[in-house]
Amino acid sequence: MKVLITGAGGMLGAEIAERFRQAGHLVIPTGRKPPLVPMDITSPQQVRAVFDQYQPELVIHCAAMTNVDACEHRPQEAYRVNAFGTELIATHCQRIGAICVALSTDYVFDGTKGSPYHEYDLPNPLSVYGRSKYAGEQAVQALCPRHYIIRTAWLYGIHGRSFPHFVLEQVRAGEIPTVIADQIGSPTYTADVADCLLQLITTDCYGTYHLTNTGPVSRYEFAQELLHLSHLPVNLTPLSMRQWQTPAPRPSYSALISWRLEWAGVPPMRPWREALTAFVQQLTSS
Ligand SMILES: NC(=O)c1ccc[n+]([C@@H]2O[C@H](COP(=O)([O-])OP(=O)(O)OC[C@H]3O[C@@H](n4cnc5c(N)ncnc54)[C@H](OP(=O)(O)O)[C@@H]3O)[C@@H](O)[C@H]2O)c1
Repeated sequence: MKVLITGAGGMLGAEIAERFRQAGHLVIPTGRKPPLVPMDITSPQQVRAVFDQYQPELVIHCAAMTNVDACEHRPQEAYRVNAFGTELIATHCQRIGAICVALSTDYVFDGTKGSPYHEYDLPNPLSVYGRSKYAGEQAVQALCPRHYIIRTAWLYGIHGRSFPHFVLEQVRAGEIPTVIADQIGSPTYTADVADCLLQLITTDCYGTYHLTNTGPVSRYEFAQELLHLSHLPVNLTPLSMRQWQTPAPRPSYSALISWRLEWAGVPPMRPWREALTAFVQQLTSS
């Protein structure tokens, strides 16, 4: 398949580009910086021209303003990228007949449920980031019927720098990181999202999916397990969300589960601990 990826220089976009290429797809990686095919998703002219030139059959839309606190400070920019940019992508997917895969987030939920959110739970985002991503989801639903909206969470992977990288770097520098102990979520390995997507796109079961590694866990427990697997015997300093003041509010509980993956005939993603083990192995072998 001819697959265009937005934000292909980002953590998830780079992983998806690699895995889709390995699976035999023809990948068109787009972004704002060379060597990617130049496409700013907020430019109507650029999006139209790139879609016209490459005529993708499938578009995986990973580009986003992902800095949650920056979104809170600069809401207009956040809505421009996460909502308007996504509207353009969905519009042009529909225009040329491409399937639209749009990445979204656990931060569309407010965290008050207290147990894992499934695909039919009602979003109620707390932050500008969450609201702008939810606006993007609604645009995709309205503008491009052949879509997959993919909510994922707490991503980490070999491309880019994420929470595990920061924890490992601090510990290796002799520091003891402070980690939130009462924020619960679904840490997810980018390689597993890419592999699951490869299967999901063959189903034609369009709609919203939660794609995360399984099992809720606190940031603290996740980080402790990372250190254990990395043979770094350090006890982290726990912190509560109340002690951790940030510009953007975060849900205290945003673990996700998927009902729809099973209904679509796609195997569930593996538990978070297995995925983390694979990540640590990948880190040490690279
Ligand atoms: N990271 C997480 O924990 C997490 C959790 C849940 C959901 N998600 C979602 O998953 C997706 C991928 O996230 P990620 O962690 O891979 O993000 P990332 O590493 O921050 O990558 C985002 C990419 O989007 C690009 N981008 C930003 N504005 C753009 C624009 N106007 N035009 C074109 N490209 C633009 C960035 O390029 P530049 O280098 O040019 O800025 C960057 O390469 C996003 O939709 C995000 O909302 C992420």
